[in-house]
Amino acid sequence: MTQENAATSQHIDTRLVHGGRGKHTGTTAGSPTVPPIYASTTYLHTNIEAQDKAFEGPTADGEPAFVYARQANPSTHHLEEALTLIEGGVGSVVFGSGMAAIHSALLAAGLAPGAKILASQDLYGPTIGLIRKVFVPTGVELVLADLCCPAATEIIEREQPDVIYVETVSNPLVKVNDLDAISAAAKAVDAVTIVDSTFSSPYLLRPIEHGFDLVVHSATKYISGHGDSTGGAVISAKNSLLDQLRAYYVLLGATLSPFEAHLMLRGLRTLALRMERQSQNALQIARFLHEHPAIERVYYPGLPEHPQHELAGRLLSHGLYGGLLAFELKEQTREAAFRFMNRLQICLPATSLGDVFSLVSYPPISSHRTLTPQECQKMGINAGCIRFSAGIEHVDDLIQDLDQALGK
Ligand SMILES: Cc1ncc(COP(=O)(O)O)c(C=O)c1O
Repeated sequence: MTQENAATSQHIDTRLVHGGRGKHTGTTAGSPTVPPIYASTTYLHTNIEAQDKAFEGPTADGEPAFVYARQANPSTHHLEEALTLIEGGVGSVVFGSGMAAIHSALLAAGLAPGAKILASQDLYGPTIGLIRKVFVPTGVELVLADLCCPAATEIIEREQPDVIYVETVSNPLVKVNDLDAISAAAKAVDAVTIVDSTFSSPYLLRPIEHGFDLVVHSATKYISGHGDSTGGAVISAKNSLLDQLRAYYVLLGATLSPFEAHLMLRGLRTLALRMERQSQNALQIARFLHEHPAIERVYYPGLPEHPQHELAGRLLSHGLYGGLLAFELKEQTREAAFRFMNRLQICLPATSLGDVFSLVSYPPISSHRTLTPQECQKMGINAGCIRFSAGIEHVDDLIQDLDQALGK
């Protein structure tokens, strides 16, 4: 067994801790266990012939080559190596934000004039915005559909798209997509599949194992995990797509800073522990809210009432269902939602998700701000809908905070 194969067969917890540590195997003088941050923008070689070769990019056996930080940098390379190992891809490219990663993933998948993309209607709002504003005016056809439903396979057969784009778990109503069924149907029509796996994180779900071609992350969320760095990643299951991704990365200049890459690699080390606690907290909070008189409905795949509870149990690992849930206040008004948010003492009424602290957001003014109330309503997001991203605080304190904010 090669060293690489041995590493790929390790448990995900071990891969998260050791992935991307580089070749720091120890020297007489001592070498670091944590790769240093390479701030240099440009690189020297033994001679100009060697530099000429380095400009070509990685060697045939995958050894990296560095000449200029926008093209490749040892710190971002370590993060890429870690994500490739963790997700089980052939390679990864990291970006300055999740949106930059999505942009390059769409281009790499071949979303060019004349192509058709079939996307889930529940996608993160700016992802739909990006396709509508940047790709549709060039002659790309966008079809939005409910791909969380069992009819996804039929829709794919009927639409015959070139590219399919879904999220593992949707925002904010945590609907779960049947990745196995979607990837099988996509293969039958020769479509490239992209999945945004931000909500589930690589600890709970690795979509390449379910037949997907490109996996996208807003690394700003669970991968970073501490609310202090912005970045994105695309992990590829195919070398041809990886080559395209690298080409767009260099040309579009959406480079991840080496400092952010360092923070994200550090974040990966504790992802397993954080996801365990966040998922346990989310389940207890979902159960508490389910019984609360001020709550109309709770959306959490870990509850038996959730329509995709069984599917989520099959896709997500470790018997966990993730750190995100949504709920509807009985009083379905913006005023009631604002009153609740303003009363919170421990949970932070701030946007984003996946951080060590619990974050509470109101989708109509944040992730779904660009949609009209009617469009939100059509997606099932009403004026009393709140999204909750569980942190790692003690769950009793979180429940007490929610209880007092909900009022009598
Ligand atoms: C599911 C999902 N994908 C992508 C993004 C965009 O990521 P970023 O903010 O890092 O650009 C977000 C941001 O909230 C998100 O929730």
